[in-house]
Amino acid sequence: MANVVVVGSQWGDEGKGKIVDWLSSRADVVVRFQGGHNAGHTLVVGGEVYKLSLLPSGVVRPGKLSVIGNGVVVDPWALLAEIERIGQQGVKITPETLLIAENAALILPVHPAVDKAREALKGKAKIGTTGRGIGPAYEDKVARRAVRMCDLADAEVLKAKVEALLEYHNAQLTGLGAETLDPAEVLAQLQEVAPKVLPFMGVVWQKLDEMRRAGKRILFEGAQGAMLDVDQGTYPYVTSSNTIAAQAATGSGMGPGALGQILGITKAYTTRVGSGPFPTELTDEIGELLGARGKEFGVVTGRKRRCGWFDAVLVRQSVKVNGITAIALTKLDVLDELDELRICVGYKYKGEVIQHLPALARAQEEVEPVYEVHEGWKSSTYGARSWADLPAQAIKYVKRIEELIEAPVGLLSTSPERDDTILVRDPFED
Ligand code: IMP
Repeated sequence: MANVVVVGSQWGDEGKGKIVDWLSSRADVVVRFQGGHNAGHTLVVGGEVYKLSLLPSGVVRPGKLSVIGNGVVVDPWALLAEIERIGQQGVKITPETLLIAENAALILPVHPAVDKAREALKGKAKIGTTGRGIGPAYEDKVARRAVRMCDLADAEVLKAKVEALLEYHNAQLTGLGAETLDPAEVLAQLQEVAPKVLPFMGVVWQKLDEMRRAGKRILFEGAQGAMLDVDQGTYPYVTSSNTIAAQAATGSGMGPGALGQILGITKAYTTRVGSGPFPTELTDEIGELLGARGKEFGVVTGRKRRCGWFDAVLVRQSVKVNGITAIALTKLDVLDELDELRICVGYKYKGEVIQHLPALARAQEEVEPVYEVHEGWKSSTYGARSWADLPAQAIKYVKRIEELIEAPVGLLSTSPERDDTILVRDPFED
């Protein structure tokens, strides 16, 4: 029996929420392994809409264990607010249903302060971050000065760490012309929050090992997408974590052999939120139409997403760097009204056609997409539940995508509703 890793294969917002929810109904454990509350997953279960940022999607399903792994950066206040918010929707979260790694690094109030102050100074060159302090928190982790979950349990260590951390960041905030933070105040805030989050803390690697040995099904829930990966993405316009599948091992404390199938969630066109290169971006009325039909607004920040044609070069790159074994293709119905569609099959760069997105930022801005044109199907695919429900041109489009990206479609999602899915291969059974 396989475990399953779900990752985004583009720039995030591929519609992971619905697929993860469907898979989590069949899993025993759902694990977040990177990112923080910059992620936004929308789940529609029984007509009720849940918007999650930090909590694994399994929390809305009774009887599942949800795990926040060591690779996640945890804002304890955002965590409690989310627990409270979904508690009001009738979902009760207890230490029996949520486990947070003792070695996860924390996001403290100083991190969003630094994040926002830096972005404000960058002007046009800004990354367009979510302002949640994700980048600065990961920097502290790698610089070996982060406050971690386990530090909340030791008053003496916590005090020393907070003082050292703020000494470092206050110098930076002063340089950025922003307000500094008072270490005593931050410490008091942490002391207040500690008893509320510590009951969720535990030894994640050990628990996961136990569950694996007991034959439980583990679902690893990625956030963002491969092109936002700090190594493989459109650097520096990326998030500060590894978003690709291999991180599921590093960010949870399981060996890579435990990962199983790797499902890449892939939108039938492309979107991106925030700044950075986007070769197939459409700034015309077709881009507007995709945004409107696809309701392309960020879950976390409410920002309008940039929209463009499907980029097979970029998704194939993503298939390779993730080791994607199948994709789940989402939002095909958004394309229903188009007369014709385009798929990017190469990039023109310095007079040649290339088959990868180069690492050089300037090259990423300069590449020109080479398109293949497809006839539109001009009929509804919304809610289709079998291949037979799809128009021939739509099937042709999907088959061409499979061929170009060198990965099969394992699932096709045709509306936000859970049952509107065409299942080709069950990743848990593969
Ligand atoms: P950060 O993760 O807040 O540092 O933002 C860095 C970049 O990642 C920005 O372009 C954000 O818009 C993007 N980003 C972060 N989280 C998400 C997400 O969940 N979906 C899509 N883009 C995201």
